[in-house]
Amino acid sequence: MPLSNTPDPALRDAVVRQDLGNVLHPIVQHRALETRQMVVTGGDGSTIVDADGTSYLDAMAGLWCVNIGYGRTELAEVAAEQMRQLSYFPHTAMNLPAAALAEKVNGLMGGGYHTYFVNSGSEANEAGFKIARQYMKHEYPDHYRFKTIGRYFAYHGTTLATLDAGGMGERKAKFEPFSGDFVHVAQPYCYRCPFGLSYPSCGLACVKNIENTILGEGPETVAEVIVEPIMSGVGVAVPPDEYLSEVEVLCGKYGILLHVDEVINGFGRTGKMFAHQHYGVSPDIVAVAKGISSAYLPIAATVVKNSVFDSFYGDPAENRQVFQVNTYGGHPAAAAVALRNIEIIETERLVDRAAETGAYLLDGVRGLMRHAIVGDVRGKGLLIGVELVKDRTTKEPVDAAAIGRMVDFCRDNGVIVGRSGGGRGYGNTITLCPPLVITRAECDRIVDTLDRALTALNPG
Ligand SMILES: Cc1ncc(COP(=O)(O)O)c(C=O)c1O
Repeated sequence: MPLSNTPDPALRDAVVRQDLGNVLHPIVQHRALETRQMVVTGGDGSTIVDADGTSYLDAMAGLWCVNIGYGRTELAEVAAEQMRQLSYFPHTAMNLPAAALAEKVNGLMGGGYHTYFVNSGSEANEAGFKIARQYMKHEYPDHYRFKTIGRYFAYHGTTLATLDAGGMGERKAKFEPFSGDFVHVAQPYCYRCPFGLSYPSCGLACVKNIENTILGEGPETVAEVIVEPIMSGVGVAVPPDEYLSEVEVLCGKYGILLHVDEVINGFGRTGKMFAHQHYGVSPDIVAVAKGISSAYLPIAATVVKNSVFDSFYGDPAENRQVFQVNTYGGHPAAAAVALRNIEIIETERLVDRAAETGAYLLDGVRGLMRHAIVGDVRGKGLLIGVELVKDRTTKEPVDAAAIGRMVDFCRDNGVIVGRSGGGRGYGNTITLCPPLVITRAECDRIVDTLDRALTALNPG
């Protein structure tokens, strides 16, 4: 359906009035919404349009999630058809779309996995923590293996446990104290190596830090290590190539499960179907969300290796089954939509396109290094970060206000970019995560807009 750019001031005013009087918004300050609002009314490809009739190139794919782009009306048909057939039944029984989707996901993982369905990335990670703990109760009855090792500056979700597993101080501060079941290690953020070292002479100090932590905590207390292959929220930190496989070796050495968060990285984003496939690892637990349905409907999943699944298999009297249920898990309409979304990713070769267009965009963005305040440009596929600094030698981050002005300049010029939420002090990276269907001409527009923003604002 073509996008309508006809302004509709009456609709806009009605929505704003209704919203401000009734909605409690996530993460944005309501006082700011009173002076500036965006009433989004439509989307097509990489473009969204608002009630003012203004179009925006969405270089963040919503919240890092609309992988196949906006406006795929065939997904509405798929959902409607499924709802006519069977709108819902609990996933303690079986249904056709969820079974087919699990088989598809298993195939994409290379085989040997079972899928537990939930509704959001947070729930997918949370179920992963619980599955890891229950697995350890079954497999190590003499141990008390309950801890999850996560990394500083990571983000794994918004529930108490997933927030705790993450390491974004700013996001956690208002909810502390946490349980203490989540232990943190140094992030593989080479541009700002927490050990002050450089790759490769660092000898992967960040992996040694994980082993030291396992030993310090006591391996018999640790259930799992959670990692996002490429850390998105901190400003797209791409680790050294051997990092993930070395973490996998460590987990194997101490009988600890490797839990990979593919919530943003998955479904083609980084130029492979799953980012861990760049690194030749086979994780025990994989959390997927966002790109699994390109956010056409909410659905997510915790995918477990069969060696984990086997631990939950037995006579009902043994009480080994997964000990939780959620009402909407395996929702037939969401599963049918996710399945068609993945078929679109496959038939339109969107994983290869993410690799190709991502390399093109990264190349264009690297040209921005001619601006002295661009300290680093990095990324994989269509997941890119542009880190801004006051001084390339000291790497002092630009002020939060300067990054805010950059984001606003781009939006005022019709391009939506993101910024890192990297915890205390590191919110200084512009993030790009566009739909995988983005064209080269649209990439040029992103680069040109950032270029003009850097010239006009010279932030810092
Ligand atoms: C890496 C990562 N994991 C988990 C989540 C949580 O997903 P959700 O917001 O769907 O709960 C997010 C959300 O942005 C994320 O970026």
